[in-house]
Amino acid sequence: MYGIIRGKSVILGVCGGIAAYKSAEILRLLKKHGANVRVLATRNALHFIGRHTLQALSENPILVDLFDEGPDASIKHIRWAQEADLVVVAPATANLIGKFANGIADDALTTLLLATDCPIVIAPSMNTKMYENAATRRNLEQLEKDGRWIMPPGSGALACGTSGAGRLPEPAEIIDYTVDVFTPKTLAGKRVLVTAGPTLEPIDPVRFIGNPSSGKMGVAAARAAAHRGADVTLVLGPSNIPDPPEKSISVIRIKTALEMRAAVLDHFDDVQIVVKAAAVGDYRPVSPREHKIKKIDDQLTLVLEKNPDILMELGKLKKDQILVGFAAETQFLEQHAADKMNQKNLDMIAGNIVGLPSSGFSSDTNQVTFFYRDGTSETPPLMEKYELAHLLFERIERRLHVT
Ligand code: PMT
Repeated sequence: MYGIIRGKSVILGVCGGIAAYKSAEILRLLKKHGANVRVLATRNALHFIGRHTLQALSENPILVDLFDEGPDASIKHIRWAQEADLVVVAPATANLIGKFANGIADDALTTLLLATDCPIVIAPSMNTKMYENAATRRNLEQLEKDGRWIMPPGSGALACGTSGAGRLPEPAEIIDYTVDVFTPKTLAGKRVLVTAGPTLEPIDPVRFIGNPSSGKMGVAAARAAAHRGADVTLVLGPSNIPDPPEKSISVIRIKTALEMRAAVLDHFDDVQIVVKAAAVGDYRPVSPREHKIKKIDDQLTLVLEKNPDILMELGKLKKDQILVGFAAETQFLEQHAADKMNQKNLDMIAGNIVGLPSSGFSSDTNQVTFFYRDGTSETPPLMEKYELAHLLFERIERRLHVT
């Protein structure tokens, strides 16, 4: 996942706070996603996490003092600063934030922060009173004005026994935020509508007709679009996935195909790109029962009626929008996907092999073929849904010339 940081040079700054133990997991995740990580820790950080842990996980020497690492140590932080693609300081203490906001450079980390041109992510972590203190607020505002990326802290129980804002977010959330910062904003100014998940068509108050869509593909598409700078409306069918944390994604939760249709039509005029990854129920029970159906008869006949084909409607309504569909197929992928693209007046369709454990419904990875209106197609390798979503938007930008 998160190929955007693969091969990049990332500096992880670690300050002295109880949350420093989480830096080991942040480091592990950065490495897992292919980044080359170097660690700069403050002296106080080493009271909370061992030098050897950071060293072993990063597979690089760590830097603490300006003069403690051999003959070139006093310039190593400058070389690292120049070579860095991205700096993440997590946890960042009030002390570090205060020093950086005021241009103080009295150890390896603060010196590197002043010496680099690359994006810097600061993940504050401290006691709530310290976080809310006027001095800390002022310093954080200053850093934001200076173009640094300040990740909002979490709220909850803190190690000091109090509760409130100031918790270091979970390592995975820090990685997500970092990936967002690092992604070029190629869709800035664009509005994107994404549908995701299944629809559930009620039979009675406790039963429904549904499908195994988890929402992962569509949510990945929404997040990738947001990370590329778009404002996203995500129409999400019943799914266990929590609302994505990105502020630029507004989520509309729906249950049925008719509710999805209403939400999609409500927003269609305002967007430039639509990606329909949802698995919409093609049929619904004609008259859902008001009360639970009792198990009396040996057979039960359900009469179903066709749901509207939302994408087909959009294809008729579309002006200069880009319409991208998905086609879930178990056989004859090329034929069925191409037919759907033509019938629904789409610009592109991702033909999706389903029924394999590693592709389609519920899996974290997906295998698709992209079909284009000019008759060409391409089959990227099996990949994580988030990476596939980026590839999809890259193709929309490059091949469909989104304007
Ligand atoms: O959610 P996940 O677990 O991650 O799984 C992802 C996925 C397999 C659901 C996704 O990748 C996928 O293939 N989505 C399309 C599934 C589907 O219903 O395909 P379809 O061939 O039935 O529909 C073709 C297109 O028309 C789709 O874009 C669909 O959203 C749209 N449609 C279909 C029926 C309908 N009534 N209205 C529609 O808009």
